[in-house]
Amino acid sequence: MIFALEFLLLISFFYKSEASIISNSYFPAYHLAPPKGWMNDPNGFCIYKSEYHLFYQYNPNSSYEPGIAHWGHAKSRDLFTWENLPIAMYPDKSYDKTGVFSGSALVEDNIMFLFYTGNVNLPGSTPDHEQQQALAISKDGINVTKYARNPILKGLEHQPNIRDPKVWKHGSSYYMVLGNSFVNGSNQTLGRALLYKSDNKITWEQVSVLHESNGDLGYMFECPDFFELDGKYVLLFSPQGVKADGDDYKNLFQTGYIIGDFNYETYEFKPLTQFRELDHGHDFYATQTILDKSNNRIVIAWNDMWETNYPEQKEGFTGQMTIPRILLLSQNLTLIQKPVGEVAKILDGLVFTGRGIGGQNFILKDNIGLISISASVERDFVLHFESEDDSRALIIKYDSQNHTVSLDRGGEDGLRRTRWTPVNAMNMNIYVDKSSIELFCGDGEITFSSRYFPVGQSIIRVGTQSIADILTLNSIKPTVYLN
Ligand code: FRU
Repeated sequence: MIFALEFLLLISFFYKSEASIISNSYFPAYHLAPPKGWMNDPNGFCIYKSEYHLFYQYNPNSSYEPGIAHWGHAKSRDLFTWENLPIAMYPDKSYDKTGVFSGSALVEDNIMFLFYTGNVNLPGSTPDHEQQQALAISKDGINVTKYARNPILKGLEHQPNIRDPKVWKHGSSYYMVLGNSFVNGSNQTLGRALLYKSDNKITWEQVSVLHESNGDLGYMFECPDFFELDGKYVLLFSPQGVKADGDDYKNLFQTGYIIGDFNYETYEFKPLTQFRELDHGHDFYATQTILDKSNNRIVIAWNDMWETNYPEQKEGFTGQMTIPRILLLSQNLTLIQKPVGEVAKILDGLVFTGRGIGGQNFILKDNIGLISISASVERDFVLHFESEDDSRALIIKYDSQNHTVSLDRGGEDGLRRTRWTPVNAMNMNIYVDKSSIELFCGDGEITFSSRYFPVGQSIIRVGTQSIADILTLNSIKPTVYLN
C-alpha cells in the first residue's frame, strides 16, 4: 500500500503537480459534443472543400430530452479539432415540423446535398406520425436551404417508420438506403432496409429490399448504411427490438452489420454472415460512414444510448460522438476498427512507460489520455479505474481461461463482455476522455465504447495478480472546447 502511494506521488510529480486541479466537468476534451443541449445521431458526415463536416441530431433547448430535432453542425480539418457552426436546419417546414430527423450528405460540384427525414407527429391519429424524405442544399458549407418541392419521397402507406436516408453515387446513378418497419402476413412488425435509385437525386424509385428481419432482428432498422469494403458489401444498421442473449445485445438498441455480396444489376444483397454487433460497450449507436481523404472507410457513432440519463445532463449538455475509426474487413469477414491516423497528432507526451506490476497506480490528469498495454495471452489481466465514489468505478478484464474480455462500469447492468482470443500478445489501447472510455482490443477486432462518470480524479490501478510487459500512458491535448 505504501509502495502504491509512493508510486502515485511519483507519477503525480511527472504531472508538474497540476493533478490536483481537476475540472469537475464531464465535457469531453477530444470528442465532439454539443456546446449546449442534446446531441444524438451523427448526420450528413462529408468532406466539403477539404474539411470534414459533421451534422448531428440536436436539441438546442434542453440537455434533458431530444425534443424536436434540429441539425447541429461542426467542421474539422483533422477529425478531432472541431469548430462549432450555426444550427444548419430548424424544424420549420410543414413536413419536418416535429423533427428534422437523421440523414446523410453527398457532395458534388462544391454543393452539399443533405438528405434527411421530415418527421410529423399526428397525435390522436393512426398511425400517429408520418415520415417523408427531404432534400436540402448548401453552397457554402454553412447556410442550408431546404428544397422548395420537398418532400422528395413520400412515406409508405400504413408504414409510418421509414427514415434515415443514406445516399451515395455509383456509376451515373444515385442510391439511397432507408430504414423501415413493416407488418408481414402474420401481423408481425419487422425491421428492414429498403434500396432506392434515382438519376437526378429528386425522383426515387424502390429497387429492392436489401434485407429484412425474420423476427430475430427486431421491429425496426434505424440508420442503415451500405457500402463496399474489400470486394464485399457491408449492411450496417441499428436494429430496435433485438432480444438480449447471454452476453450479446445487452444494450437497449444495437448497432451491427451483415457482410454479403451485392449486385448492382439485380439489387440483391446475399448475406454471407449473421448479424454481428460492431461494438460491445454500453454506448454506441446510429453509425454513419464516409470515405476519408485517404479513401479509407471511416465510421463514427453516437457515443451514448437512448434512455440513459447520464449525470452530464446537469451540466447542460448530453451526448458526444465516438472517435472516428477506420473500418477494415478481416479474413473471416468481421469488421476491424482502428482510430483514424490523425489520433497520433493529439497525443501530447509520454506520462509513463515501463512494466505494469500488480497494484501499481497511475493517473491521467483530468481523466484524459491513452493507456496502452501489452501483456501475455496466458495470464488474466485486470485494470481498475477507481473513483472517489466506488459506485462509479470501472474494471476492464481479460480472462485468459474463458477467452473473454469485459468492461464493467458497475451498478445494475454494468457488465459488457465478449469472446476474444488474442494470438501473440494481449494488446489493448484505451482512450479515456472525462466521461468516456473506448477500448480497442488487439488490432481493433473487438471494441467497447462506454460512457462512465468517475467522481474526481480516477486512479488507474493494475490488478493485484496482473502484469503488463509494457504499459504506456500518454496525455492527450484538448481539441474540443465549450464555446
Ligand atoms: C436513431 C433515431 C433515428 C431518427 C433520429 C431522431 O437514434 O431514432 O432513427 O432519425 O434518431 O432523432
